[in-house]
Amino acid sequence: MDDIMKCECGLMYVPWVKDNEAYHSEHHDKWVNGQPILSVSYERIIGTIGGKDILESSKDLPLPYRAELAKVALLAQRDMSDYPAGYDGSDEDPEFDSRAYILRERDRGVGIIILRRRDTFWPFTWNNNRENIVPHNAVSDIKRWVVERIWIVSKLRRQNYGKHFIACVAKYLELNVCDFGWELPFTDNGRLLVKSICPEGFLGTGDLALLDLEQK
Ligand SMILES: CC(C)(COP(=O)(O)OP(=O)(O)OC[C@H]1O[C@@H](n2cnc3c(N)ncnc32)[C@H](O)[C@@H]1OP(=O)(O)O)[C@@H](O)C(=O)NCCC(=O)NCCS
Ligand SMILES: [Zn+2]
Repeated sequence: MDDIMKCECGLMYVPWVKDNEAYHSEHHDKWVNGQPILSVSYERIIGTIGGKDILESSKDLPLPYRAELAKVALLAQRDMSDYPAGYDGSDEDPEFDSRAYILRERDRGVGIIILRRRDTFWPFTWNNNRENIVPHNAVSDIKRWVVERIWIVSKLRRQNYGKHFIACVAKYLELNVCDFGWELPFTDNGRLLVKSICPEGFLGTGDLALLDLEQK
């Protein structure tokens, strides 16, 4: 068992087993540089950050292309496996609708935002470094876009990509950043990002039973 290595990329492997090594080096390269994605003539670029395009994956684009872009969701999922948030590009959940935005550096997907429509939210405020639910019933006025996941490849973190990425997508959808709902629970980095972009509070959704909530 001592021979099993755990790399910073999250993969456990046995170094001298050839297949293991090949598998690890392929995964490690994606973890560092992002997921290779094919370009198509009809791709939809909705904005650019630091020379990197933002691509849209929505229902009106062909399924094989959405599946190609969804490979970035899989890479993000492997990077944070305790926080499931699926996106495979299909229309499995027509009631709620879903779409994704991909940040692309050359031919690699280096970031993703997965959105889904939801209609029940709780207003949250910040208390020191935690979120507190405000003592109101859920708000179910309109269907909103909820950020199910935002992920940036680790080499690009803390360089404002996350902040600009969500702002660009909001602008494209003609929203303010704080109009988005947020799927809970947050990761630590997710909480810091949302606190920085919505310092007054935010609309949260998901399974509140999973949260360590202090009712205000
Ligand atoms: C969450 C995530 C997308 C943030 O992206 P990012 O590009 O690093 O964020 P930014 O550089 O735009 O930072 C925005 C603000 O968030 C806060 N922040 C984000 N990560 C932080 C960290 N590790 N420590 C302290 N503050 C942090 C800061 O206030 C920052 O503003 P500042 O740099 O001016 O201080 C990124 O950390 C990530 O992909 N993490 C893994 C996936 C994840 O946890 N996703 C969230 C839940 S779905
Ligand atoms: Zn590795």
